[in-house]
Amino acid sequence: MAPIVWKPKADFMLFQVGKRKSEVTVKKWKEKMIIAIDGLAASGKTSVSAAVAKELGFACLNSGLLYRMITWAVLREGIDPADSVRIAERLKIWKFHVHVRDGVQIIQCEGHILGSELSLPAVNSAVSIVSQFPAVRRRVGSLLREIAAREDCVTEGRDMGTAVFPDAEYKFFLDASPAIRQKRRDAEGIVDAIQSRDERDRSRTSMAPDAVFVDTGLYDLAGVVNFIMTHVRSPRGDKDTGN
Ligand code: DC
Repeated sequence: MAPIVWKPKADFMLFQVGKRKSEVTVKKWKEKMIIAIDGLAASGKTSVSAAVAKELGFACLNSGLLYRMITWAVLREGIDPADSVRIAERLKIWKFHVHVRDGVQIIQCEGHILGSELSLPAVNSAVSIVSQFPAVRRRVGSLLREIAAREDCVTEGRDMGTAVFPDAEYKFFLDASPAIRQKRRDAEGIVDAIQSRDERDRSRTSMAPDAVFVDTGLYDLAGVVNFIMTHVRSPRGDKDTGN
């Protein structure tokens, strides 16, 4: 199918493929475009996704934050993070509101706008327990799909390119060695035991067969973003990486 011309926001001009200056050609099969970026903790996916979304003028959806939002609600009510039955019950009651303003995800739970609470050490250690439950995964998946139906999105997480958006136009899977990833977290001053979270998260983390693998230990942030942008702007939408 011939690519269609996508008109970016007025102040944005990233690449041209023989078109007028204000136009960009990307492969777009659906009305709303999705770029899925998956990877393990501290693989770089959050910074990379935010930068790619900014360059494209897309919304950036961080699925990990939605799992953190539910974990915050669990802890706030003193529920045992392993109590799947109670969590499933409360999920029918809790009111979540997630929307995107100026490309940024705004997360509201029971009327509280959540920000730094989502990275509390207690949330870090409980989130991979809470996020394993099917009721939790279904809820996060539907919140993400509701937004992606309205906005062009870069969506990041563990299973964006497989379970949540298997039809995403572009899929990337980022990784780096455990030592590099732990170093990144330590440098951010965040208490986060990467190795134990890896063990719990691994079963939910999957690389789609049509995803492009990127070793983020080999590039700096700008290098990874550039790699992804080059790929996305390729008129042929190449799937081979040369990586
Ligand atoms: O990306 P993150 O480290 O903030 O994610 C927090 C937790 O949420 C992570 O430990 C696993 C879970 N998660 C998941 O199971 N599936 C996703 N798509 C995203 C995150």
